[in-house]
Amino acid sequence: MTTYEVRVPRRRPGPGGAVGKEAVREAVRKESRKEGAGVDQDRWRHYLAAYHDERPGITERFLGRADTSPYAWLAEPLRGRDGPVLDLACGSAPVRPLLAGAHWLGVDASPGELAAAARAGRGPLIRGDAARLPVVDGTVDAVCAAMCLPVLTPRDRVLAEIRRVLRPDGMLAALVPATRGLSPAGLARWARVMATLGTLRQPWPDPHARDGLAHLLRHAGFEVIADEPRVFTLALTGTDDGHLLVDALYLPHLSADRTRAAKKKLGSWAASGRRLELPLRRVVARRG
Ligand SMILES: C[S@@+](CC[C@H](N)C(=O)[O-])C[C@H]1O[C@@H](n2cnc3c(N)ncnc32)[C@H](O)[C@@H]1O
Repeated sequence: MTTYEVRVPRRRPGPGGAVGKEAVREAVRKESRKEGAGVDQDRWRHYLAAYHDERPGITERFLGRADTSPYAWLAEPLRGRDGPVLDLACGSAPVRPLLAGAHWLGVDASPGELAAAARAGRGPLIRGDAARLPVVDGTVDAVCAAMCLPVLTPRDRVLAEIRRVLRPDGMLAALVPATRGLSPAGLARWARVMATLGTLRQPWPDPHARDGLAHLLRHAGFEVIADEPRVFTLALTGTDDGHLLVDALYLPHLSADRTRAAKKKLGSWAASGRRLELPLRRVVARRG
């Protein structure tokens, strides 16, 4: 986990209050050069496709170790909406049972993830690319985006697609990993995990789509209604949970030897029972 945040320079708004957008753009560009730099988008897409086909349902299993369900938190603002809900990059579709009465549709690029969703009796499902959604303009009442926006590329195209498919008053509810909110002990625990893995951070292709997501959405034309951080706690109660932790992180550069060694260490670390803080962020926005 990193300490990334978009720092927007404080300046007086110009006539019409127009300063904000350019300041945000510049702050985002600056951060891109730092943290997101070096992530080749084609290689990332290949890595992501193989990763999810090899580990279907991994995100749901990992978040399933949380004290309360982050998916239930995400689903709250979507309940009671009567139009179609598109679950973007739905994975194994953990949100589906939480919106049982909704006209729900899951879209994901990974056949492995979609098969896991289908095995769990969750549907309907379509295989598709978030950057080219197989959905007609202005037909969706809400888009649910669980844990996916920082990994979907190219970001501008994906956000434009979400806006395209939403009705004019449609809503986006997104859940993303965050970096802020860890206690000192929580930070130390993550530092220990990452040191065992021999790395400082996961190489997110779009790190700004975490704590900076609200800024990005405003910039893309959305009206942000809520931007809320919340720290969940994962209970790691056995060797398998230590292995799950290693498998659940995006670490494209980790060698097979290092992975084996880290699993051994983190497996025995988790065996005696550990708690790991997991800061997340829920952002709710209107199409605007
Ligand atoms: C972190 S997982 C989140 C899955 C699910 N929303 C959840 O929370 O359990 C990211 C998901 O994005 C999907 N994905 C990656 N690239 C995609 C793309 N270009 N279009 C659609 N889905 C994509 C992956 O297959 C994976 O299921």
